[in-house]
Amino acid sequence: MTTTPNAQALPNDQMLTIEQRLALTREAMVQLRVKQPKGIRRPPGPSRRRVASAILTGRVTSLAFMGELCSIKPISFARVGPENLYALSDPELVWEVFAKLDGTTRRSMALQATRPILGNGILTSEEPEHKRNRSLVQPAFSPRRIATYGDQMVAATQRLSSQWRDRVRTGDTGILVSEQMSDLTLDIVGRTLFGADLTGDAVEISEALTAVLGRFSRMLSPAGVVLLRFPTPTRRRLIESVERLDAVVARLIAQKQAQLLAGEDPTDMLAVLIQARDPESGQGLSVNELRDEVMTLVLAGHETTANALSWTWLELSRHREIRRWVEEEWDTVGQDRSLGIDDVGQLHRTRAVVAESMRLNPPAWIISRRLREDISLDGYNIPKGSTLLASQYYMQRDPRYWTDASSFTPSRWLNDDGEFDEKAPGQPRAAWFPFGFASRKCIGDRFALAEAVLALATLGRDWEVVASAPRDVIPVPAVTLRPGNGIPARIRPRIGH
Ligand code: HEM
Repeated sequence: MTTTPNAQALPNDQMLTIEQRLALTREAMVQLRVKQPKGIRRPPGPSRRRVASAILTGRVTSLAFMGELCSIKPISFARVGPENLYALSDPELVWEVFAKLDGTTRRSMALQATRPILGNGILTSEEPEHKRNRSLVQPAFSPRRIATYGDQMVAATQRLSSQWRDRVRTGDTGILVSEQMSDLTLDIVGRTLFGADLTGDAVEISEALTAVLGRFSRMLSPAGVVLLRFPTPTRRRLIESVERLDAVVARLIAQKQAQLLAGEDPTDMLAVLIQARDPESGQGLSVNELRDEVMTLVLAGHETTANALSWTWLELSRHREIRRWVEEEWDTVGQDRSLGIDDVGQLHRTRAVVAESMRLNPPAWIISRRLREDISLDGYNIPKGSTLLASQYYMQRDPRYWTDASSFTPSRWLNDDGEFDEKAPGQPRAAWFPFGFASRKCIGDRFALAEAVLALATLGRDWEVVASAPRDVIPVPAVTLRPGNGIPARIRPRIGH
């Protein structure tokens, strides 16, 4: 994929309206409905009564219900409303479906439900658009680009650190860790996407996005999309908030386009996206496609990393001896200067702490695919239209593949030379998949890891985050795995820092 030094005029299309996106969402959902043959042999699973009771009590989307499905190994079945769900708990089966059969599967119903906001960005789109647009977005995540984002990640974290200093000076030491980490990662994704010079707009977009997500997280479900057919006040508010967000994004795209046409050389992701061209057709992303990709990056990149960081602070608060072990590294690497992207490769213990935290508390806790064709798996014929699930949460805690599976042991990620190595725990492939697989693997994985490591080390050098009741925090599975109460905590300056 190439980028031209200056943007040509963007293909002249209009952004779709939210009403149009809602109609397309319903269409995409209808397409996923496939009548299944009767009387086929299904794997074992919870009884119909248990499933019915889980639906009635709202437990069907809980970790416990998924745990019940995953406890029946290697494959289990449950019919939940119109959905035929198969849960896979064996790494080889997960590999078979999510990596090898990549091209035979489609996005799940749950992901389709995010279309009113995300449109047809690379998280939701299907082939061939997905492949084309992913290769246009990819240059924004090249190692060279990520190196330039590193400075922004550290600068944003230092701004948070100085806000904490101001708070502590006034005697205010109480924070909600999730809230602080969410503000930080939104700041980082906003600035790396749109550029540091757009401070005011970054704030505006963050406010508009918070309004959309805060009010409508429950609408981001297949049932929510059905409810949006009715002219309720909720529907009207959703439409108004998304329209506001769309207007901000449209303005940012137009401004960036103008900067490029004026010969400036901005280095943010949006500038890269605008300039990316398909090598065969010479075509770039249209305004509507840019809008969808921008929304997708903000949404996919913000809460996931915030959760990874929040869970990590919690684990360090629960395990003081590990906190001291990683502090030794923070007091050595780049001690007298700001950290930068080149330090990430030296911060082995920090990387191990982040990996171990994501093993036990994976921000993306479940992934699913819809079958486009019939397949045969573990002796079962699984008809097209079925949904196949794999849970990072259960696989990454499975004692068959992890020694001391439930203990927080970052050192398992270090090799004999004390260096971070993803293979060091000796787990089989597909027993560890925090970022998914194959053509749908997270495009922001290196971005997220650099961000988590730099933010943790930059803050951890100067601050201790002490969770008020670390044992009381329970995982809440929403779109991502959130710490239930947001982790109330106290911040304490580290002695001598
Ligand atoms: C710790 C943080 C993160 C975690 C755990 C995570 C996890 C994941 C997972 C599991 C998938 C695959 C979903 C599936 O197969 O259905 C995914 C996809 C994706 N992620 Fe991330 N992610 C993180 C951070 C980010 C960041 C920082 C960005 C962008 C700035 C990002 C952008 C995306 C996009 C665009 C996709 C869709 C890729 C495609 O389908 O081609 N993610 N992520």
